[in-house]
Amino acid sequence: MDKVSEQAFPVILRAGRPDDALPCGAILYEAIRAIAVQHGFTPDFPSAEFGADMLTEILAYPAVYSIVAEVSDGQVIGSNFLWEGDTIAGIGPTTVDPATQNRSVGRRLMEHVLQRAHEKRYPGVRLVQAAYNSRSLSLYTKLGFDVREPLANLQGEPLGLMIPGRTVRPVTEADLDVCNQLCYRIHGHNRAGELKEAFGRGAATLVECDERVSGYATEIGFFGHAVGENNEDLKALIGAAKAFGGSGFYNKYAEERSYPHSKPRPFMAGMKALRMAKAINHTINF
Ligand SMILES: CC(C)(COP(=O)(O)OP(=O)(O)OC[C@H]1O[C@@H](n2cnc3c(N)ncnc32)[C@H](O)[C@@H]1OP(=O)(O)O)[C@@H](O)C(=O)NCCC(=O)NCCS
Repeated sequence: MDKVSEQAFPVILRAGRPDDALPCGAILYEAIRAIAVQHGFTPDFPSAEFGADMLTEILAYPAVYSIVAEVSDGQVIGSNFLWEGDTIAGIGPTTVDPATQNRSVGRRLMEHVLQRAHEKRYPGVRLVQAAYNSRSLSLYTKLGFDVREPLANLQGEPLGLMIPGRTVRPVTEADLDVCNQLCYRIHGHNRAGELKEAFGRGAATLVECDERVSGYATEIGFFGHAVGENNEDLKALIGAAKAFGGSGFYNKYAEERSYPHSKPRPFMAGMKALRMAKAINHTINF
């Protein structure tokens, strides 16, 4: 029996259902708001209603495995999600009701999705963690995650910039394979499922240099990802974005190792760094 199952706090883990969106959305909003405010930061999400809408979508998404924690009277106290659509699975949002935090509920939600990732033979999992949250970082580190990259969460008005020698245009169906190959070449795996979904809703863009694809983005925003052969490709995609979705985007290429109060680089002039975060991952050994 491991340390967690010996804990006294009784928690039931069960599959997520559509009607969990409301209570889990309220917990998502309140848990993230509380830790952000505690550290003097603006919360990632504006309201409990926003949280519920977001979780309504996630709970309905076929490629997402949902797990909900509840106590014996059926009261929901937390939730977690495993994004199973691509080679490397994504985790989150992971949230526990502030009233029941620090009682191993978060650990159990994390261990559950890691076990699932292991059983489904994912070679690794990834997530993004707010740098000011020492509890979540401690938890993830204890579970075997490694910090990979510092990230800055940037938001602002669209930049409307073009980068010389680069052309940005929407992704077409015929581009999907080449974008996936590019991602594989750079990262050792592709995110074909996410790209296909973004293409389906008309959000995906790509950048060409010397008449070949040198980068793409599912969206420049909180829930998107972008890949480029070099910084100029990423700058072209960011510079052409018509908006920065959600609470802005996580950027590692230009602002890394800087902090919210530091001066943005010229390309990012006018943008605000809302917070720092860390990209972390966990390799799964079979
Ligand atoms: C992060 C979160 C999911 C963790 O859930 P939780 O139930 O509070 O956490 P747990 O009790 O399971 O685990 C916390 C672990 O960190 C340890 N810990 C907590 N604060 C710590 C600190 N300041 N330094 C070192 N370790 C710390 C605890 O001892 C515990 O370790 P253990 O399992 O070995 O005993 C929860 O706190 C939460 O919802 N936070 C707000 C939302 C959020 O930030 N989500 C994560 C998004 S990336």
